[in-house]
Amino acid sequence: MRAGIATPEFALSNDGQLLVLDRFDFVEREDGSIERLGFEDIAALAGLRVRDTLSDRKYQGSYQAIAELLKQLQLPCENLQRFFEQVAFSVMVRNGDAHLKNFGLLYRSAADAWLAPMYDVVTTSIYRYTRYEGGPELEDKTMALKLLRGRRQTRAYPTSDELMAFGRSICSVAKPETAMQNIAQAMTETLQQAKRDERIPSALRSAMSTAWEAGMAYANLDRMRCGVG
Ligand SMILES: Nc1ncnc2c1ncn2[C@@H]1O[C@H](COP(=O)(O)OP(=O)(O)O)[C@@H](O)[C@H]1O
Ligand SMILES: [Mg+2]
Repeated sequence: MRAGIATPEFALSNDGQLLVLDRFDFVEREDGSIERLGFEDIAALAGLRVRDTLSDRKYQGSYQAIAELLKQLQLPCENLQRFFEQVAFSVMVRNGDAHLKNFGLLYRSAADAWLAPMYDVVTTSIYRYTRYEGGPELEDKTMALKLLRGRRQTRAYPTSDELMAFGRSICSVAKPETAMQNIAQAMTETLQQAKRDERIPSALRSAMSTAWEAGMAYANLDRMRCGVG
């Protein structure tokens, strides 16, 4: 939200244990009644039947393939820009779980559809995970889907130039660096504000702060500030 990216309205409970969100598929009309929008996640739109035993199918594919799908569906072009911002945000906060079910479309009809607000974004890189119950604990160092790196599609986090190239050439964003600067600025402000927020344990804040260093550097804010000043 602070980075200028649409999210559902949210609030953190006083004890810091619950994140409460408004539903983005319910819209209040002027007369107070509720309109229910349609919602399909990208896995469903791509025709993948992601079920319990096949749940790793949501990790198939690439951010480029999602962008191509959005183009194919002929959504108004600002949706591609918004998609780039959501991907850039996940890259920069080191969310390794931005898979096909964590992007979706809202719609009233086939001709009136748009990208849903950003949801389910977590700095997963500060947590360990296991592939199966009792399995070894693994570090989360990669993205959920592939992105072009040089000539190869890979899950490795892109450099800032690679992320900009994705924004420019795949998502047709004229100035991807502007979105990246807005995100970096918002991350800086968020870390500052978290210092004064007693709901955030200091160990968590410090782990997030370390995990976010690489992402904040994508915008080269320091270099730009020097350039301006
Ligand atoms: N604010 C929201 N409004 C409506 N539907 C939502 C909202 N947030 C998530 N969803 C739906 O619920 C699903 C699960 O929520 P998500 O935040 O992705 O949690 P998780 O994947 O960790 O269970 C999403 O894939 C999406 O379809
Ligand atoms: Mg999810």
